[in-house]
Amino acid sequence: MENKMNKPCTGKLKVSRVSVVQEKLGDIVINLIKIGIVIGLIAFLSLAFHTAFFKPSWRLFGLPEHLRVQNYSRIDNGPTNISHILFGIGGSSQTWDYRSEYSKIWWDPNTTRGFVWLDKKPNILDTELLVPYKISHGWKQFKYLYSSSAVRIARIVYESFKLGLPDVRWFVMGDDDTVFFTKNLVTVLSKYDHNQMYYIGGNSESVEQDVIHSYDMAFGGGGIAISYALAVQLARTMDGCLRRYFYLYGSDQRIWACVNEIGVRLTHEKGFHQLDIRGDPYGLLAAHPMAPLVSLHHIDQLSSLFTNQSETQFLTNLTSAYNLDPARIVQQSICYDHRRKWSISISWGYTVQIYTTMLPASDLQVPLQTFTTWRTLSNGPFTFNTRWIDPDPCQQPAMFFLDSLRMVDSKGSITSYKRFYADGADKCNKSHLNVQVQRITISALKLDPEYWKNVPRRECCQIMDGGSIKGGNMHLRVKKCRLRETTAI
Ligand SMILES: *[C@@H]1O[C@H](CO)[C@@H](O)[C@H](O)[C@H]1NC(C)=O
Ligand SMILES: *[C@@H]1O[C@H](CO)[C@@H](O)[C@H](O)[C@H]1NC(C)=O
Ligand SMILES: *[C@@H]1O[C@H](CO)[C@@H](O)[C@H](O)[C@H]1NC(C)=O
Ligand SMILES: *[C@@H]1O[C@H](CO)[C@@H](O)[C@H](O)[C@H]1NC(C)=O
Ligand SMILES: *[C@@H]1O[C@H](CO)[C@@H](O)[C@H](O)[C@H]1NC(C)=O
Ligand SMILES: *[C@@H]1O[C@H](CO)[C@@H](O)[C@H](O)[C@H]1NC(C)=O
Repeated sequence: MENKMNKPCTGKLKVSRVSVVQEKLGDIVINLIKIGIVIGLIAFLSLAFHTAFFKPSWRLFGLPEHLRVQNYSRIDNGPTNISHILFGIGGSSQTWDYRSEYSKIWWDPNTTRGFVWLDKKPNILDTELLVPYKISHGWKQFKYLYSSSAVRIARIVYESFKLGLPDVRWFVMGDDDTVFFTKNLVTVLSKYDHNQMYYIGGNSESVEQDVIHSYDMAFGGGGIAISYALAVQLARTMDGCLRRYFYLYGSDQRIWACVNEIGVRLTHEKGFHQLDIRGDPYGLLAAHPMAPLVSLHHIDQLSSLFTNQSETQFLTNLTSAYNLDPARIVQQSICYDHRRKWSISISWGYTVQIYTTMLPASDLQVPLQTFTTWRTLSNGPFTFNTRWIDPDPCQQPAMFFLDSLRMVDSKGSITSYKRFYADGADKCNKSHLNVQVQRITISALKLDPEYWKNVPRRECCQIMDGGSIKGGNMHLRVKKCRLRETTAI
């Protein structure tokens, strides 16, 4: 009986013991949940407090320890200036010996921030270098099909980000033969919010290059600007991405592929110039798109057909005008001498052309094709229209090149352009020699960079002194158009 009684009892007991254990377990679980909730709450509140009262913490999340940004900026909504840009120049110890010459044209050690990234220590002495250098690390582990330096250079954005320097809004990559016009770069970048994911640059001028690579890729030589927000994402995904795209050709194409995985498209700015052309960039710079000049590349691959200047002479000349009026450099203006039936096209700070026929603005804004394509040296197609230029110098417009300049009252400038005679042009008769002008002087007020924040309108040009040519000199003025003013033949 007892046994019988006990059996069920033990059974009950067993059951109740199990249920007690279950209850206890349940209590523990509930307590654990409570504790969890409390901890979660505390964490949430402290995080909220932290977020509300301290630096923006979104930068902290999702990044491995070594990528965390150590240095925070104050929440700073001030306009973007040069100090917010970190340059990352893709170089090699071999080429930097001579290409560091380009940096002398544009790098101001007092204001420009950044590094040239090299594979190893350069041969040239540190004291002769303007741009501080860094040696790239960790790139040799990656597989590649064409060149390991493409991997190294693609990783510059990652390595620059990893430095964790304070107050960086934009990471700007360029080649060691890229010349930046940094004031205009700032003007362009300040239009965009660096807290959004931006991938800014330009593609190739030669359609054949865009077909092979991509129309919507920022070509590295022209410069690639990556906003801070995009750099955060890129830094996180870059190494995996470089492994996936080992078969791609260049560094810029790898960056493009990685940016595409994030889902960001190219913001095309027409002042970034890859200059994938051969010959003379004259036509392009004499009829530049209505956009601030941001960069030039491949200068040592080009030739100054018309001026017979060396590339450094050309750049020095251009830069001296740029320093005077950065926003206006190579901006086109068109005017007509109705009495003489002349069309005049100005590319401020670079060149002036006089045609002895009346050509409409829609023709004059098309670059003369003084170059061929990059890869096949063909007559096109390019990503813009071109006009044919007669190889006979007697049939070409009279050309003038910047010769001297000066500032006027800190608000304006006077630039002077000297007549250039191509080989054989001295033997031309007819219309060509009818242009008695030997020098053109242009006065202009400094162009406010704010001009580029609005939809630009080509500035107007006025013939001064009633069009008189005194001692071979003609005087023009470039100015803002009146509302109803047009450039009509
Ligand atoms: C943070 O910035 C300061 C000055 O801006 C600099 O001296 C320091 O080295 C930076 N720290 C890191 C970890 O980059
Ligand atoms: C750039 O802007 C920051 C504020 O955002 C300011 O502290 C700094 O002095 C500026 N630098 C230059 C070179 O204008
Ligand atoms: C940089 O600053 C120093 C001292 O402030 C000045 O002497 C020098 O001319 C500046 N360099 C340039 C390139 O502006
Ligand atoms: C200019 O052209 C002549 C021949 O046409 C050449 O001998 C000379 O080296 C050139 N000068 C420059 C600076 O390129
Ligand atoms: C431009 O270069 C030419 C030589 O090619 C020189 O004579 C002229 O003075 C230069 N102009 C300026 C503004 O530097
Ligand atoms: C230029 O003029 C000379 C005589 O002055 C003449 O012989 C020659 O054919 C002319 N050339 C052209 C292209 O008109």
